Amino acid sequence: MTDTYRPRRSVLYVPASNDRALAKIAGLACDAVIIDLEDAVAPADKIAARQKLAGIFANRPDRLEMVVRVSPLSSEWGTDDLLAAAACEPDGILLSKIGTPRDLLEAGDVLDDNFAPGNVKLWAMIETPKALLNIGTIAELGRDPASRLDCFVAGTNDLVKDTGVLATPDRRYLMPWLMQIVLAARAGGIDVVDGVANDFRDLDVVARECAEAAAMGFDGKSLIHPSQIEPANRAFSPSAAAVAEAHAVKEAFALPENTGKNVLALNGRMVERLHLAQAEKLLAKAAAIGA
Ligand code: COA
Ligand code: MG
Repeated sequence: MTDTYRPRRSVLYVPASNDRALAKIAGLACDAVIIDLEDAVAPADKIAARQKLAGIFANRPDRLEMVVRVSPLSSEWGTDDLLAAAACEPDGILLSKIGTPRDLLEAGDVLDDNFAPGNVKLWAMIETPKALLNIGTIAELGRDPASRLDCFVAGTNDLVKDTGVLATPDRRYLMPWLMQIVLAARAGGIDVVDGVANDFRDLDVVARECAEAAAMGFDGKSLIHPSQIEPANRAFSPSAAAVAEAHAVKEAFALPENTGKNVLALNGRMVERLHLAQAEKLLAKAAAIGA
């Protein structure tokens, strides 16, 4: 989570080639959309999809964070995708199939060379075995604002494809890698968004995966269908009980008799100043999303 909390509970992919889906963006309750130029767009439609970006951004809703996912820079579409995305000054550009810090640095250089403002951030798909092996050094770029790195998105479908693990309903073979992605994101001080639930007709599946992802420390989930937005927003919002608990911790430390103390007893539990910091963070998050 970055210093000023920006909700990324629900991050919806919208294929840049799908006009009906694009027309819905302004009315959706998601926190962010990813306009996709990569895998959701067939090769024959790539150039037409890219040419639509400027029109999409001309009418962009202020409320939503708007990100563009570009094809890998090593592909025939990558550089032109990146330049077209940069020209729209989106909140973020999501790089697909990265493997090393160099991939991010090269994209950052293209943005710098083309005078993209500093508030155009880079997001990175973590979806290749190589990116997983290099995750610590990739995440470390998050500590350097010049790198623009701001968020990881787990690409679980590609990880399944490239590693050969079995995709099971409980995602058991992906879990170690997902936890590693969260850990690295925290080390780098950036946000981290879980992969998609393909089974979009079954809302129990997305609700379960969101609850799990929230418990694993993810900031939100990437989504493929509008029906998945509400379950994601719910799962990644602080519960009423958590908000009440945070208020209780804050009030306890504010009591005159506790001002000099680092450790207190509250309802039979030890609370430290680190719990106060956690409580304040949770309350700021709750306030930002109106929970
Ligand atoms: N964003 C915005 N609107 C969407 C949407 C999305 N991702 N997915 C579906 N919709 C819209 C549809 O356009 C439809 O509205 P319409 O009747 O006015 O056209 C409405 O929601 C209901 O859609 P539905 O009929 O239930 O689904 P579908 O069969 O049209 O589409 C998918 C199903 C999976 C093909 C579609 O949701 C999709 O393309 N999702 C994104 C996939 C993607 O980007 N993948 C790459 C990253 S993993
Ligand atoms: Mg992918």
